[in-house]
Amino acid sequence: MVALSEQNLEARAAFLRDAAEQAIGTLSGDRCLMVGAGSGYNTEEFGDYFDEVNALEIEPREFPDVVDHGIFADGTRLPYQDDVFDLTVAISVIEHVVPPVNRPKLAEEMVRCTKPGGHVFFQIPNGRFPLELHTGLPLFHWIPGAKQVAIEMGYTGLKRVHIPSRAKLARWVREAGADVIEERSFAYPSEAIPKYNQLYEVFDDIGVFRVFPFGHIVVGRV
Ligand SMILES: C[S@@+](CC[C@H](N)C(=O)[O-])C[C@H]1O[C@@H](n2cnc3c(N)ncnc32)[C@H](O)[C@@H]1O
Repeated sequence: MVALSEQNLEARAAFLRDAAEQAIGTLSGDRCLMVGAGSGYNTEEFGDYFDEVNALEIEPREFPDVVDHGIFADGTRLPYQDDVFDLTVAISVIEHVVPPVNRPKLAEEMVRCTKPGGHVFFQIPNGRFPLELHTGLPLFHWIPGAKQVAIEMGYTGLKRVHIPSRAKLARWVREAGADVIEERSFAYPSEAIPKYNQLYEVFDDIGVFRVFPFGHIVVGRV
């Protein structure tokens, strides 16, 4: 796995927060929900803008201090009433939902729990990025059968990753009943990238990341 420093993670969280703000206008509101909150960098960054921060995880984890109410549950069956949150966020989560056929259900549930006029924010990695980020091997995941080999080598996390395309994610958000107000691909700023910063900046300058973006963002208005 390619290791990210604290500075990389903070820079990613700030970048995603800015992207949400650009799409939505303002991030302030009564309540937000971070689905699949994980290690917490994004939860801290987004949570600061809301009076009440809710976080949900399928795996027992320690939530960061900014969280007012944290629960352990499945994001495809959110234990909240309809129309509760101003912003509902899933960053690098929907591709981990198993079985993969349940991925649209995560979008559906997030839209259901979000207030009319509120927003849902999704970020997913680019499944066609030329570096496979679990193994750190270039082009590895483009080889037929390589994923199974990697799983057998011990990269068991790969077993549960099914990255949808940006278009498919946007379709799920629409089918869930939200208007898609932003659908774009991105590359992180160089502070968010481990070790290869200078090379990264050269690649960025010559437009490599326009062809191979790092990930995609989809924002829906409910
Ligand atoms: C790659 S991590 C991302 C964590 C966090 N969102 C972040 O940006 O740092 C994916 C997270 O999604 C959680 N997850 C996977 N499936 C889930 C589900 N069905 N419901 C809720 N959380 C889920 C995992 O436990 C894991 O913490």
